[in-house]
Amino acid sequence: MAKKKIMLVFGTRPEAIKMAPLVLEIKKYNDKLIPLVVSTGQHREMLDQVLNIFNIRPDYDLEIMSKSQTLSQIVVKTLQGLESILLREKPDMMLVQGDTSTAFTAGLCAFYNKIPVGHVEAGLRTFDKLRPFPEEVNRRLLSVVADMHFSPTSSSVENLIGEKIPKPSIYCTGNTVIDALLLVAKRKFDIKKSGLKLDANKKIILVTAHRRESFGQPLVEICEGIKKLAKTYFNDIQIVLPAHKNPMVTGVVEKILGGLDNVLVVAPMDYEPFVHLMKASYFILTDSGGVQEEAPSLGKPVLVLREKTERPEAIIAGTVKLIGVNGKKIFSEAEKLLIDRILYKKMQHAVNPYGDGKASARIVSAILFKFGFTAKKIKEYYSK
Ligand code: UD1
Ligand code: UDP
Repeated sequence: MAKKKIMLVFGTRPEAIKMAPLVLEIKKYNDKLIPLVVSTGQHREMLDQVLNIFNIRPDYDLEIMSKSQTLSQIVVKTLQGLESILLREKPDMMLVQGDTSTAFTAGLCAFYNKIPVGHVEAGLRTFDKLRPFPEEVNRRLLSVVADMHFSPTSSSVENLIGEKIPKPSIYCTGNTVIDALLLVAKRKFDIKKSGLKLDANKKIILVTAHRRESFGQPLVEICEGIKKLAKTYFNDIQIVLPAHKNPMVTGVVEKILGGLDNVLVVAPMDYEPFVHLMKASYFILTDSGGVQEEAPSLGKPVLVLREKTERPEAIIAGTVKLIGVNGKKIFSEAEKLLIDRILYKKMQHAVNPYGDGKASARIVSAILFKFGFTAKKIKEYYSK
């Protein structure tokens, strides 16, 4: 049987982290599948950091990123750049991941060119078009465009079934982020080598925030809550905040938190030191999707800086709490977790609702099955 060409398109940090294990898995079947990696370059430094860690060299790079880019700019440049590559390479299938503008636009471009689309991390929903913005809508649009839906959990499968997506096209695989996390977390890494000036006597509170719906006042509130926490517990904690490179984030974060002695505002960290910093931290405050998925399997409590989340599983498991973007509430919830040992212990247990490290293997078996390379159907992943 002729080999099948599988094009993987991604452009941002989280997509690269979640697609890297899949690229590595597809490479194992080089007698059946040919991986072709296309980067849109929606991110630059933050993407390249991940490509280096997993030793992935894209076959094509559209280099679309510009400073403070608009969503329409990302879409237009991706559509224009990708179509000629699709016409030249004629892949048998395209894989996209998640909810970014890169993922949605690449899926659309494949659909226009009648190329089957596999959607990795399908079926996450808040059912609120504006939260997260524009990711909720990107996801829904991709579910319309895609032919194979690789859902991370049983509740994401249920969401798709509720939208009348044909059941045989849905596979419950677990999330590839756990594949990536386990690959990196097991490597030995001395946190002292991260270059961070950490005080061994203080607890580390890790913070990330970058969502578009939080730009402006919500991000100011987030920073004010963190500032109060840092000042109130100066002798006990140090806050580490790797700031996203979006100027809408760095401007506010540096203005409010820049001058505080126990707040380290640093550049985006490489994935490996970041994972080990998560392991070393006491708890995490974040609005990131990926961090919400990773931290529970490391046994780290997470307070989510959002009004809604499309990842309810760890909230149900009790390791994650949704606390919103009000500064006073952020301070009081973080304070509770800091001083209440019973509450901390309750949230601290490690759970794996998002995967077992075998999601990429399941996705690749489903692809091999689709193309008739194997008669074996995948054994699906169901979170407990
Ligand atoms: C994008 C995704 C979001 C994802 C996030 C992960 C969309 C609509 N949003 O949002 O879903 O959670 O990535 O981080 O696809 N920049 C740099 N260097 C970089 C990366 C970004 O300078 O390596 C700056 C640029 O000025 C760029 C800006 O950040 O214009 C915004 O980047 P963009 O990808 O549009 O939005 P994100 O907020 O990163
Ligand atoms: N991450 C990283 N360095 C950092 C911050 C985050 O490598 O300084 C990783 C994190 O472990 C997770 C991913 O980036 O796997 C999440 O990306 P981000 O928060 O940008 O996007 P989201 O998941 O919200 O779409």
